[in-house]
Amino acid sequence: MNRRSAAEAYEKVPTSIFESSSAAAASLAKEVRELIEARNKEGKPAILGLATGSTPVPFYRELIRLHREEGLSFKNVITFNLDEYYGLGSDHPESYYRFMCDQLFDHIDIPKENIHLPSGTVPGDQVFEHCRQYEEMIDAAGGVDFQILGIGRTGHIGFNEPGSSRESLTRRITLDRITRQDAAADFRGEENVPRFAITMGVGTILRAKQIVLMAWGENKAGVVSRAVEGPVTDAVSASFLQDHDTARFFIDQAASRELTRIKLPWLVGPVKWSPSETRRAVCWLSSTYKRPVLKLTDEDYNEHGLSDLLSEQGPAYQLNIRIFNQLQHTISGWPGGKPNADDTFRPERAKPYPKRALIFSPEPQDAIVSIGGTIDRLIEQGHDVCLVSMTSGNLRVPDSEADKFASILQELATASPEGWSEQTEYARHILRLLEEKGPFGEDPPAVRQLKSLILRGELRDAAHALGLPPEKVQFLNLAFYEAGRYRRFKPTHDDTAQIVTLLREFKPHQIYATGDAADPSSVAALCYRGIEAALAELQSEDWSAACSIWLYRGKEKALEPWEIDMAMPMSPNQLERKARSHTRYQSLTTIEKDVVRSNQSTAEQYDSLGLANYEAMESFQRNRRA
Ligand code: GLP
Repeated sequence: MNRRSAAEAYEKVPTSIFESSSAAAASLAKEVRELIEARNKEGKPAILGLATGSTPVPFYRELIRLHREEGLSFKNVITFNLDEYYGLGSDHPESYYRFMCDQLFDHIDIPKENIHLPSGTVPGDQVFEHCRQYEEMIDAAGGVDFQILGIGRTGHIGFNEPGSSRESLTRRITLDRITRQDAAADFRGEENVPRFAITMGVGTILRAKQIVLMAWGENKAGVVSRAVEGPVTDAVSASFLQDHDTARFFIDQAASRELTRIKLPWLVGPVKWSPSETRRAVCWLSSTYKRPVLKLTDEDYNEHGLSDLLSEQGPAYQLNIRIFNQLQHTISGWPGGKPNADDTFRPERAKPYPKRALIFSPEPQDAIVSIGGTIDRLIEQGHDVCLVSMTSGNLRVPDSEADKFASILQELATASPEGWSEQTEYARHILRLLEEKGPFGEDPPAVRQLKSLILRGELRDAAHALGLPPEKVQFLNLAFYEAGRYRRFKPTHDDTAQIVTLLREFKPHQIYATGDAADPSSVAALCYRGIEAALAELQSEDWSAACSIWLYRGKEKALEPWEIDMAMPMSPNQLERKARSHTRYQSLTTIEKDVVRSNQSTAEQYDSLGLANYEAMESFQRNRRA
């Protein structure tokens, strides 16, 4: 069996893994363009099924480019969107109608009457009829030629949450808890996320002639593998695509990492045993067998498809020791390097000491939540630590927090005898703005500013709990964040320029960053790309070549032991100190706080591989710059 057909034995839907989301989007846009042009020649309209969410945004940007630069016309295109939040009017900033206008329709020449979305405001007693008519309209147009899909973390397509049947049609459904949590940042708090939506059914989607599902970023990797390789089940509605004749998945590398051909390539075909593949295979064997690395036998390797690894690098005894030592050398309680120690096998070099360590936090909470233990240790070990919040994070702060601060100020100002009229006026102004815009309205600049200040205070407070003085906490307030909304930010060169200035001033010996494998439209990924672009500009500067870059993960899936280049162990007391610093973030959700649990799980994995048994570990990957 060749490698491709072996992969197909696992992958029940044709799946293309692209270098990047933009490469995938360009390839998809090319297909759609060809369809539109072919239909034009036949004198027929092209019927497109469209999706919302951050995933299709690069695809829509490419369609807009094709329209502007290459004259692709949408006059003869009819669109049907998958879904709409129930309860939101088309003018609501988070309605899918608004989203589609902002991201596509307002920038192309599609006639308004060709655009169809379910209505979010149809009265309850007319929902059934509205949904029936939506189905009828799709059929009357001749059915969807090309359906674009994203995938939710629950495996949903459209809003077909777990439990949706293969035959389901357009209908009103209740949103799953996870889906609502994922939309919480868009709506500034889970409580503001609508509870219902109207969505095309699985059956409606499966009637499309062609279907492409797109997925980017590692937090989609698990659900992609369940949809592509798992059983067809209503627990993962995307798995029904396995039964469709032409459905395909277009994914990026980060979203592919749980597919068998990527995760366990030796099950699929011959493997070139690079050091990292070898480490992965040994760790996998150890965890599958629940046996420490040093106890794996030749038979274990042979029985699990690893006989060629054994013949190349065995016997087991020697291979085990080599990998055990490699894993052992990743463990270091000296993230800044251990001064005056032999650093041959340590993750970080000993000199210079102390180091200037620059910690990048995409939003104010990210770094402290993810690597608070390491920050703590770096400070304790005498390094010059600077923590930089790259964006203000103000879109995450619920109105109730802004209301609380403005009310306190108002009360304080009113109780003060004289000279506080400006403060009173300011507080009243904020309270008025909050009331005028209502729970769903967009925050006016003054409200965003107050929310930024609240988060600044929380970050300073949390940093202080780890021993970092306020002057060592900086706020970049990158402009892309201030000008945008979640799922549709557009960074510019100005953002990079700000990062360049900061790097040039601080000249770090170490950088800690995150977002390399995140959804490319997420704040973390955009910040990471800004750092990469800034470093590329600065590569000729002396300090830059010598600077080590450590990548950490946020609330997405933690690094696996075989991916870890530095594991920073924590004692129970140190973990508690980190967890305590999180309590300073009143606006944090429990998902973010779960990182502490994931630190414990990394330590458990090291323990079961047969290494030291620590309470918790933060983990890092070295950025291997070209
Ligand atoms: C929502 C939409 C889906 C979309 C999903 C994933 O649930 N109804 O159509 O696929 O979000 O969103 P994102 O692409 O932002 O990850």
